[in-house]
Amino acid sequence: MATGKVDALLGIVFGDEGKGKVVDYFTPQYDVVARFAGGPNAGHTIIFDGKKFVLRSIPSGIFDEGKLNIIGNGCVIAPDLFMLEAKEVESAGYQLTDRLHISRRAHLILPTHRVLDRAYEAAKGKAKVGTTGKGIGPTYSDKAARIGLRVGDVLNDFDAKYAALKARHEQILKDLHFTDYGITEEEKVWMEGVEYMKKFHLVDTEHEINRYLKEGKKVLAEGAQGSLLDIDHGTYPFVSSSSTTSGGVCTGLGVAPNTIGRIFGIFKAYSTRVGSGPFPVELFDETGAEIRRIGKEFGAVTGRDRRCGWIDLVALKYAIMINGVTDLVMMKSDVLDGFDTIKVCVAYEKDGETVTEMPYDTEGWNPVYEELPGWKTPLSDLRNESEFPAAFKSYIDYLEKALETPISIVSVSPDRDATIVR
Ligand code: IMP
Repeated sequence: MATGKVDALLGIVFGDEGKGKVVDYFTPQYDVVARFAGGPNAGHTIIFDGKKFVLRSIPSGIFDEGKLNIIGNGCVIAPDLFMLEAKEVESAGYQLTDRLHISRRAHLILPTHRVLDRAYEAAKGKAKVGTTGKGIGPTYSDKAARIGLRVGDVLNDFDAKYAALKARHEQILKDLHFTDYGITEEEKVWMEGVEYMKKFHLVDTEHEINRYLKEGKKVLAEGAQGSLLDIDHGTYPFVSSSSTTSGGVCTGLGVAPNTIGRIFGIFKAYSTRVGSGPFPVELFDETGAEIRRIGKEFGAVTGRDRRCGWIDLVALKYAIMINGVTDLVMMKSDVLDGFDTIKVCVAYEKDGETVTEMPYDTEGWNPVYEELPGWKTPLSDLRNESEFPAAFKSYIDYLEKALETPISIVSVSPDRDATIVR
């Protein structure tokens, strides 16, 4: 019997690598595009025909009419935000209800989860994670505590289940003395979102995906966030609460490890991070500000300034190892067009100790750099590798050698067609 494969497309650093654009570019080669982790904390920006869309929970394959899109069991979903997002896509002329299936096992983000997110952050003071405030941590906590509400619950005695979990949250908020909040309006829209969600196929997507695989169909697993935000492998506790790495594809979709095919690891030609937490390559100077300005490095969900720095090979090697990356995809190379010199972090140093393997605690390490000449040529109009300036080719060769993994795709501008396959 024919067996299709699940290929994974993962951000392998701190998220915001430009996954939306790459998934959108890849979609024609696949039958199904599926999200396996995270929720509306993600913001996948897609630009085509001069229009910009920011997808949060909906897979990026939604703009290709022939494809099925799945929100898998490993995801968390906020019905109100989902409704707003879906209506926006619908109003752009796309039919959604038959092409977007949602796992009944995915967990629901309640309005009180979002309040809890704020309350926990406030209680942490200086040690706060800098979350997106979308209730991600509290929702996954309830999942692990086996008290969460799942999408399947909306079809069965929902009001009582909702009231019970909400009461539980209210008690925690009271205990935390976090009582100055109002969710009446929010709750109303949230309930409308629950009703709206019922228009969609709320199904056992795990069986569905496996049926497709048996038929030889191809599935693309679309990552969210980045490997260093993974609950197990990231810079804990400054992480998100889901499994963002390739292992999460199996648990978050219900597919076996032997169905996984290629694993595409997406990274930028430089580094960024949103929120708190260690970031050894962070630049606090004019160069960092320049990268932010040229790269438009402001959060798609929160609008926050992203912290910027040079590329970090210590982090990339670690992420390639954890994920089993087979192919690298380098994004936003054009952002570095104007720099005389490009720095590459090859090791971390602290108190006379130098490491090249990602340490347990990345706090307090300083980057050790090697320098390469800049290409000083605009890349954004190039559509063929043969046109690449020599210094840019050298940058790619250097990275491939150091990372021991091929860079199969290079993106040189936000446009759909500026994606060069090598
Ligand atoms: P949470 O996922 O909202 O709980 O946030 C936890 C951490 O992950 C914070 O530092 C966020 O800034 C970061 N984070 C969450 N989602 C994204 C994303 O899509 N891109 C980049 N950072 C993210």
